Amino acid sequence: MANPSILILAGDGIGPEVMAEVKKIIGWFGTRRGITFDVTEDLVGGCAYDKHGTPLHDDTMAKAQEVDAVLLGAVGGPQYDNLDFSVKPERGLLRLRKEMDLYSNLRPAQCFDALADFSSLKKEVVAGLDIVIVRELTSGVYFGEPRGIFTEGNERVGINTQRYTESEIARVARSAFELARRRNNKVCSMEKANVMESGILWRQVVQEIHDKEYPDVQLSHMYADAGAMQLCRWPKQFDVIVTDNLFGDLLSDAAAMLTGSLGMLPSASLGAPMANGRPKALYEPVHGSAPDIAGQGKANPIACILSFAMALRYSFDLGDEAARVEAAVETVLANGLRTADLMGPDGGTPVSTSQMGDAVVAALDASI
Ligand code: IPM
Ligand code: MG
Repeated sequence: MANPSILILAGDGIGPEVMAEVKKIIGWFGTRRGITFDVTEDLVGGCAYDKHGTPLHDDTMAKAQEVDAVLLGAVGGPQYDNLDFSVKPERGLLRLRKEMDLYSNLRPAQCFDALADFSSLKKEVVAGLDIVIVRELTSGVYFGEPRGIFTEGNERVGINTQRYTESEIARVARSAFELARRRNNKVCSMEKANVMESGILWRQVVQEIHDKEYPDVQLSHMYADAGAMQLCRWPKQFDVIVTDNLFGDLLSDAAAMLTGSLGMLPSASLGAPMANGRPKALYEPVHGSAPDIAGQGKANPIACILSFAMALRYSFDLGDEAARVEAAVETVLANGLRTADLMGPDGGTPVSTSQMGDAVVAALDASI
């Protein structure tokens, strides 16, 4: 049987630095566990624009469609701010999501014990937190038509359209219910049915899918603004949150900060099953390209490493090996290793990106 295949798109800013640490771990699986991945690398975002004049070359898009999993670092940087909208680095990422039809974006927010003090919230509010935001990723206001900047009379008007079909809502709802069944069996759906028709439909369809197919799962509904408030007030009330593309973007950044650092959080973007039964998938850290610290060895590679762990679980059916990587990260944090983003106000000496990656590899060694 062919080796499982991975396309690495490290991207811009700190993307290549954090991805270098993931490559160490991929290598470790080959030499120490006899699990060899066929890895190819390519460009996305600003670096792809610099080389090809587009943030995602058609050949790269085609490769992404063929592999078992795509691992992405980050895209964007200030040098690309003034590019035409259609070739901005982010368009490369959005094209991957749309053309691979990665409709279900899983964003876990888990608070590691060793980091409970780093949250801006009180320790008792976040210690032991373990929730997942399931964000719809291929529709809504990110993609709805009409869109653009038009002229009406003597002024300009900017237009984006929030649009959801019933089937788009149903499939992401199913993905959330399935996930909840493997966790604590609770789903909270968030929209603004009080002001948006798309929110009314969202609530109805989620309820219908629940009643017909997942009556055993506990379902609640919340307006997204109240949900944001509840996430800060008492996040442990949630298990799985399912929400649309834009609300999911905002709520997942807020949830990320509950855990202490954006540098810790992985994500998986999943689509329909491929011929091998596994979903089409792209894995990426929730953090961005952090151009302010790029190239200095300061970035935290853990979000990217944990994204690879999600790939092991969801794309390669290697749940035990995923748990091994997660446990290695936990060990390293419990031992007190901290990158600069995890330094408290009283200081300490941060380790570099590569020292953190090496420590995770050492913890993996110790696990076998
Ligand atoms: C995210 C990011 C992206 C988004 C950007 C980079 C296009 O904020 O993945 O959360 O808005 O979806
Ligand atoms: Mg975001």
